[in-house]
Amino acid sequence: MTVARKMPMTKNSAELNYNDRGLELPVLEGSEGELGLDINKLRQDTGLVTLDHGFMNTAACTSAITFLDGERGILRYRGYPIEELAEKSSFMEVAYLLIYGELPTAAQMKSFTQAINAQSQTKPELQSMIQAFPRDAHPMGVLGSVLSAMSAYYPEYLDQDLSAEKASQVMTQLMAQVKNFAAFTYRTGRKEPLVQAQSSRYDYCTDFLQMMHGQEPDPEVVKALNVLLILHADHEQNCSTSTVRLVGSSKANIYAAIAAGVGALWGPLHGGANQAVIEMLQEIQADGGGYKKFIQKAKDKNDSFRLMGFGHRVYKNFDPRARIIKQSCDAVLAKLKIKDPLLDIAKGLEEEALKDPYFVERKLYPNVDFYSGIIYKALNIPTNMFTVMFALGRLPGWLAQWKEMAESKDTKIGRPRQIYTGAVERSYKPLSSR
Ligand code: ACO
Repeated sequence: MTVARKMPMTKNSAELNYNDRGLELPVLEGSEGELGLDINKLRQDTGLVTLDHGFMNTAACTSAITFLDGERGILRYRGYPIEELAEKSSFMEVAYLLIYGELPTAAQMKSFTQAINAQSQTKPELQSMIQAFPRDAHPMGVLGSVLSAMSAYYPEYLDQDLSAEKASQVMTQLMAQVKNFAAFTYRTGRKEPLVQAQSSRYDYCTDFLQMMHGQEPDPEVVKALNVLLILHADHEQNCSTSTVRLVGSSKANIYAAIAAGVGALWGPLHGGANQAVIEMLQEIQADGGGYKKFIQKAKDKNDSFRLMGFGHRVYKNFDPRARIIKQSCDAVLAKLKIKDPLLDIAKGLEEEALKDPYFVERKLYPNVDFYSGIIYKALNIPTNMFTVMFALGRLPGWLAQWKEMAESKDTKIGRPRQIYTGAVERSYKPLSSR
């Protein structure tokens, strides 16, 4: 039984006065006390729309999956603090929790894992498709393409309204296949033969790593990967998740929705930041390791350079995931006996930036991507695969959000309004008279 409330409760209301008319707007309260103005009747009653660049103030849905308080640095999946899940849980258990709302019993965990394992072979056509891309193709482009292509091979999951049973089947299929696609893309990029899944022998993370590297991984590496994937598993209505919901709201199939999420995640302002951070740290290293110059560049409004891995739309105090990752980074490097100079540069850069009034005033702190790349590097995962690792972690979150969207009776096709600023009506002139 889920403890979350089905719908926010009305606490009180706000009044909007416009053109000598008053409109009462209900104020809704979420289960953690956060408040929101319900403007569902605004346009109908006043003719007005709202303008909110980047959805800085707009809640697009109600959701019972993830709670995030950016001021207090809180992140919880289905009520469970991220710190506890990262320490005690596994990625598979967290995936179940996000998708189905509760931690699984032993029997539920077994049948969830079996359902994923039963779908762990990839169709030869899809394997060949991955191998047909240029060797240096970006793995995110390959992943998005192969996900879209799945629609051609699994017509049974293209129905507008999937039954609960079919929805569960396709979600576990995606959990199995995205892992394979990521590993196959890596092997293909290195001109190495594909290594097939051995899901009856290995757990999810171990299997993924053996598929990538062709050998059984160190248990410490498996543990670190579990933590990383858990930390990335969901983050409420971020850019890629909102994209998945928006595409899904048109009743496009789940493959199209998840492929669109991959596209949104790829950008350097979102999931692509993990790759951009390592490239930035390498640039600083190549420049001699002095980070002050780069801090100056980040502050210069005439320079497009930004301190990658810094700042967040929601976290304005600290990103709890970044704290866990920083500790994990130290632990992994120590256990694997790796000394990475990029870690020293990252720590120095963080220390310097956190003292600088520019970053302090704007509440810019390291985000989840600042240290994750250093761990991926230690796990022998190449830079251009980092964002795919993020996608692998975020997949259960996308699936949970897609499922919630598809099941909610409040879902409407996502269709924002605009304020038109173009030319007013004018008459066409033939080419000869222009
Ligand atoms: N370096 C330098 N200045 C920054 C940075 C940064 N990384 N981030 C924000 N700022 C500045 C902006 O220039 C702006 O300054 P101004 O008020 O003087 O104009 C102010 O801080 C507010 O920034 P916005 O861009 O308006 O904040 P927004 O919430 O729209 O953007 C974002 C958030 C995209 C994460 C931004 O901080 C950024 O670009 N960070 C670097 C990329 C990154 O690490 N992305 C990963 C985010 S986590 C994730 O998606 C998994």
